Amino acid sequence: MRKTWIIIILVLFLAACAQETPTATQTASQPTSQATVDPFPLPAERGAYFATSGVCTSCHRNMVDMNGQDVSIDTYWRGTMMANAARDPYWRASVRAEVLHNPDYDEIIQDKCTTCHMPMARTTQVFAGGKGVLLDDGFANPENDMHILALDGVSCTLCHQIENLGLGEEESFDGAFAIDDVLPAGERASYGPYKATDENVILMRSASGYVPTVGKHIQTAEICASCHTLVTPTVDNQGEIAGEFPEQMPYVEWLASSYAGEKTCQDCHMPVVQGQVVLSTTGSQARGQFSQHSFAGGNIYGLTLLETHGEALGVTASRAQISAALDRAVAQLHGQTAEVKLGDLTITGDTLSLMVETKSQVGHKFPSGFPSRRVWVHLMVKDAAGKMVFESGRYEDNGLIEGNDNDANGSQYEPHYQVIEAPDQVQIYETIMGDVDGAVTTTLLRGAAYLKDNRLLPEGFEKGSVAEEIAVCGNAASDADFLGGADRVEYRVDLSGMQGPFTITAELLYQSIGYRWAQNLAGLDAPEPQLFITYYDSVPNLPVVVSSTSAEFDG
Ligand code: HEC
Ligand code: HEC
Ligand code: HEC
Ligand code: HEC
Ligand code: HEC
Repeated sequence: MRKTWIIIILVLFLAACAQETPTATQTASQPTSQATVDPFPLPAERGAYFATSGVCTSCHRNMVDMNGQDVSIDTYWRGTMMANAARDPYWRASVRAEVLHNPDYDEIIQDKCTTCHMPMARTTQVFAGGKGVLLDDGFANPENDMHILALDGVSCTLCHQIENLGLGEEESFDGAFAIDDVLPAGERASYGPYKATDENVILMRSASGYVPTVGKHIQTAEICASCHTLVTPTVDNQGEIAGEFPEQMPYVEWLASSYAGEKTCQDCHMPVVQGQVVLSTTGSQARGQFSQHSFAGGNIYGLTLLETHGEALGVTASRAQISAALDRAVAQLHGQTAEVKLGDLTITGDTLSLMVETKSQVGHKFPSGFPSRRVWVHLMVKDAAGKMVFESGRYEDNGLIEGNDNDANGSQYEPHYQVIEAPDQVQIYETIMGDVDGAVTTTLLRGAAYLKDNRLLPEGFEKGSVAEEIAVCGNAASDADFLGGADRVEYRVDLSGMQGPFTITAELLYQSIGYRWAQNLAGLDAPEPQLFITYYDSVPNLPVVVSSTSAEFDG
């Protein structure tokens, strides 16, 4: 897999800017199992190396915390984006788009893209000497032998079989997690934090073919880093591979923050429940430190599409389970992500000046991950009669931000600002990808460097001394108050002729798929982009309010 890249890419250069958990003693009673039939059953298939989730959830379900709340691994996991990584209509549209834009690299692209989004099927093919294939007769096709394994996404036996080999090293990044290719079915390990009793080892092994095995490496950030560190090849104008591009770097960002060594990915993305939980419906000793498989992130639009079009997409979760995942993501965005404040309100002549300060509580850049994510400041000033006298960052139902150059014209973009004086200037915390010529692009394989990366930095991040692959790019690099954990931007509003008192409101908004990223898929003559655009046109792409604040000003 990685080796292939190394052979293809002779001259590699990485460009950034253009330029045993405590065990409980008592035995808890098992939650009573409901005898109802699951209307969206998880598949129970066994492959040579992997089994699908239904094999595991026959026992690992019906889990409740001390308050009687359902915290079952299956109900949580099945509604997440990782469980749906293979069905995700935006991902599928994007793979097709990459192939259409870079036809010479069709095989490489499909193999690459299935590595993390369909990891069980792709790994199985690689062990058999093959490659990952999504489109046409590939994994997405119900006739394909790997179809069911592929659609189970980032599933139980993928994460729980990752070996403690090379974790945290570059050799394990980019989907190069190590999976044992020798052990026969029936003897394969399933790593976890606990030591199961001999009886339970035999029980799980005979029922599932996997042996519960203590493997503390599952609790480290480095296991997540294997897929959450993504480097893509850069294709130049001649169609040659000209280098590599650090597309997603949340783990490297986290390493450069004060969260490294303090809070792992799991601490924030798999919050521990209060009290103790029985792990299996067969009954066993109740365990403390139970980590929920909630994996809440920022992909509000992705989850909304799964919620709205779940049946058509073949989602193996009820609408209620997807809605619950969406609620958890929104709750995290509201309460544990960032805070916006207004300060330094002064008036000089007719000009009102104020500071909008944003503080991030995120363990990596905010936003992080896929480059279509963006966060922006929506500032509103209203006069005594409630009439809007100034507004920057207004949005439309189709996801467009008014005044954002990139949404108006895909070859332009909004710079990072220190001072905003006009409604068509908007502070957007985002990445803008550039190709080998420095032209703006949303085609992943054309990406050579970020032209702009002013995503809010995590606490402790020293922008002057970090590795190039996570550098701040554009004006934010030299902005003295764009720092680890915070940014301040000044607004100057002309109030001449207006009647106070004025009400000033600042909102920090988050959107998972920026308008231009979606629009660039429109017009592509292939089923996957067309399906995505049909969905996009029918489901409003509204941002989530991460934080908001208001102040009155007598002027
Ligand atoms: C190394 C693992 C890895 C590989 C390889 C990979 N992805 Fe992803 N991809 C991810 C992760 C992790 C996310 C989620 C990031 C986030 O939520 O911000 C993601 C998210 C996405 C999204 C956004 C989905 C959504 O619903 O918003 C798209 C589109 C996407 N990937 C396309 C691709 C394409 C096209 C390829 C092949 C060129 C590819 N990916 C290869 C790991 C990978
Ligand atoms: C994205 C990777 C990932 C996937 C997918 C995943 N798990 Fe886990 N699981 C983990 C991690 C990491 C832990 C340990 C968390 C900790 O202790 O910090 C864990 C813990 C567990 C535990 C121990 C109890 C607990 O939650 O602390 C069980 C049992 C378990 N997983 C079963 C499953 C089953 C069954 C599935 C599929 C329905 C599944 N897991 C899917 C990563 C994953
Ligand atoms: C017959 C019921 C049964 C099935 C089916 C089953 N398990 Fe288990 N599993 C158990 C029991 C019982 C334990 C021990 C729980 C304990 O010690 O608290 C366990 C423990 C675990 C643990 C924790 C191990 C540790 O060392 O921390 C993981 C992870 C796990 N199972 C994953 C899986 C996966 C993945 C599958 C599907 C391939 C699966 N289980 C299928 C019953 C089952
Ligand atoms: C086998 C590869 C793989 C591993 C290992 C993995 N992930 Fe993911 N993860 C993905 C992919 C692929 C996506 C994006 C799916 C999509 O949006 O289509 C994703 C998405 C996510 C998201 C974003 C969800 C959202 O709604 O925005 C979070 C959070 C996440 N993963 C956390 C974790 C954590 C924590 C771990 C480690 C315990 C982990 N992942 C391990 C592949 C992986
Ligand atoms: C201090 C808590 C914290 C830690 C530690 C943390 N995250 Fe996050 N993460 C968040 C919050 C809050 C969000 C939602 C806001 C956002 O989208 O950035 C998030 C979002 C994400 C997303 C979705 C990003 C997007 O906008 O699409 C991914 C993927 C992710 N985290 C992966 C990881 C990985 C991998 C690690 C470990 C290397 C990690 N996180 C560590 C808090 C944390």
